[in-house]
Amino acid sequence: MKNEVVLKTDNLQVFLPNNQGILRAVNGVDLEIKKGKILGLVGESGCGKSVMSLSLLGLLKNKEWKIEGEIELRGKNLLSLSKEEMRKVRGKEMAMIMQNPMSVFDPLTTIGGHFVDTIQNHIKITTKEAKKIALENLKKVSLPNPEKIMKQYPFQLSGGMLQRVMIAIAIALNPAVLIADEPTTAVDVTVQHQILGQLKKLVKEHNTGVLLVSHDLGVIAQMADEVAVMYCGYIVEKAPVEELFRHPAHPYTKGLLSSRFQLTKRRLKPIEGQPPSLINLSNQCPFLERCNEAEEICTKYRMDEIGGIKNHLVRCAKYVTGNEVMLHELA
Ligand SMILES: Nc1ncnc2c1ncn2[C@@H]1O[C@H](COP(=O)(O)OP(=O)(O)OP(=O)(O)O)[C@@H](O)[C@H]1O
Ligand code: SF4
Ligand SMILES: [Mg+2]
Repeated sequence: MKNEVVLKTDNLQVFLPNNQGILRAVNGVDLEIKKGKILGLVGESGCGKSVMSLSLLGLLKNKEWKIEGEIELRGKNLLSLSKEEMRKVRGKEMAMIMQNPMSVFDPLTTIGGHFVDTIQNHIKITTKEAKKIALENLKKVSLPNPEKIMKQYPFQLSGGMLQRVMIAIAIALNPAVLIADEPTTAVDVTVQHQILGQLKKLVKEHNTGVLLVSHDLGVIAQMADEVAVMYCGYIVEKAPVEELFRHPAHPYTKGLLSSRFQLTKRRLKPIEGQPPSLINLSNQCPFLERCNEAEEICTKYRMDEIGGIKNHLVRCAKYVTGNEVMLHELA
């Protein structure tokens, strides 16, 4: 079915009470990951991309995190599942490529051991059969000499190789959804190109739905079908990739795009100022202090008011009903 939604979040909120207040890392996120499509998620460091990604798979390490709202995988409410049920979902139905490959692997287990454990956790097959699947998947990510890699320990591989191993493990069980959090941070440009190529191939061959997290707009432009822009845990803009790059509407998105544009001219011009603290964040526009389009109406605007049109949503005072600004007028 075209545009079939495999994973959906509804008003997802992830927050962490601490001695200073409540750290609001993810604030009312509504996203849809569709079969055979890549949803790109961009935003500056610390805006909540990893916390949100980890929350989708129930992988937040600190048990103090609270999750509210809904996460629905093919009609199943993941937040109502037990730990054991969630463990079954991970790997088989939903897999993740983590931002930091080194932190994922047990240093005392060989790559082959990691593979076999993951596969046997989900399907009842012999170790020999699991090894065969592992080798096939290592070949898919173009790693040289997979037989040797199976016997090696994580510290014997480079960051780029580990990242490819992580992709191979993630795709081994052919999950319906793949969350890829900065899958190319630890690698050079050539390997980045290969990894992104493999991801695209996977989507095409297996109809996997992918959430691709990156702070690199170039990667997002090249890979994504749809883009969500995150700022202070809010999705401030969401649109099909061409629409977003041609007609960015939210001042933050415009700032991100212009900093990238400057970078291509070898002059990095980041958005001025810093995002506010996420602790006890209010529901006023968190971009207010940095925004060069701010007006009087912005002080009254609340982040639960969403403007724009069906395929192009914007959380900004200028686009909500009543302010009567057409979407492309400001672009
Ligand atoms: N384990 C943790 N304990 C406390 N706070 C955390 C923890 N992990 C993340 N945070 C905080 O949650 C917020 C969101 O962090 P997150 O790692 O999701 O950002 P990010 O968008 O993935 O950034 P980056 O681009 O640097 O990876 C930040 O304020 C961060 O300091
Ligand atoms: S609501 Fe106002 S301050 Fe916030 S992004 Fe829009 S124009 Fe800028
Ligand atoms: Mg991150």
